[in-house]
Amino acid sequence: LRRGGPASDLAGRHVVVSAGGTREPIDPVRFLGNRSSGRQGYALAATAVARGASVTLVAANVDLPDPAGADVRRVGSARELRAAMLAETTRADAVVMAAAVADFRPETVATAKIKKSGGAPQPIALAENPDVLAELTRERDRTASGQIIVGFAAETDHVLEHGRAKLARKGCDLLVVNQVGEGRAFGTADNQAVVLGADGSATDIPHGPKEDLADRVWDLVRERLVR
Ligand code: CTP
Ligand code: CA
Repeated sequence: LRRGGPASDLAGRHVVVSAGGTREPIDPVRFLGNRSSGRQGYALAATAVARGASVTLVAANVDLPDPAGADVRRVGSARELRAAMLAETTRADAVVMAAAVADFRPETVATAKIKKSGGAPQPIALAENPDVLAELTRERDRTASGQIIVGFAAETDHVLEHGRAKLARKGCDLLVVNQVGEGRAFGTADNQAVVLGADGSATDIPHGPKEDLADRVWDLVRERLVR
């Protein structure tokens, strides 16, 4: 599977990966969610284990077997994911935010199942979720921890332009930008991306298995980890 750096080049490193997609409850039986399968995040966790890292995987609603050797923490909503990430990343060497975090959540969660009332349906008022990635980079900067932080972005158009702007806005070291639409990326085994660096670099990753993309991401992280 691997074609990245030497085996065990992440030995002694602690990395945290988020995976899957958050679900924002509407009532006890319904949620707002997205189509993220968690496969890219799971591939990142599995390849990091293979390269010797100690791996914590924060999984949001993923229906996949736990990657062997990773410490898995399950979460549901964006706010649960935020709490888990803030707790797990304090001593991490690297953090990869592969999870699709819902931008918005219902402002209020009905305590009982919402019923058809016979009249016009009620709109669902939304509140904005915290930006976990931006918060993690602010915390890293505040503590000068030297942690390497990687974000993911899925864009349908103006991929590089939107990617560069997002990288700057989030303050992360690397942003893995996927072009989506036309059946690409979500729920498929293969992936294709460009990885933008805060240092101005752009690394093309050809179409291939998500494990290969994961290994290339860890190569780029490894290069940036200072002793
Ligand atoms: N992200 C996050 N918290 C959020 C939203 C996104 O941590 N509330 C993270 C994602 O995990 C991903 C990166 O930020 O690593 C980019 O997500 P994306 O949805 O592309 O960025 P947004 O800032 O939400 O911008 P957009 O309006 O394009 O959705
Ligand atoms: Ca978003």
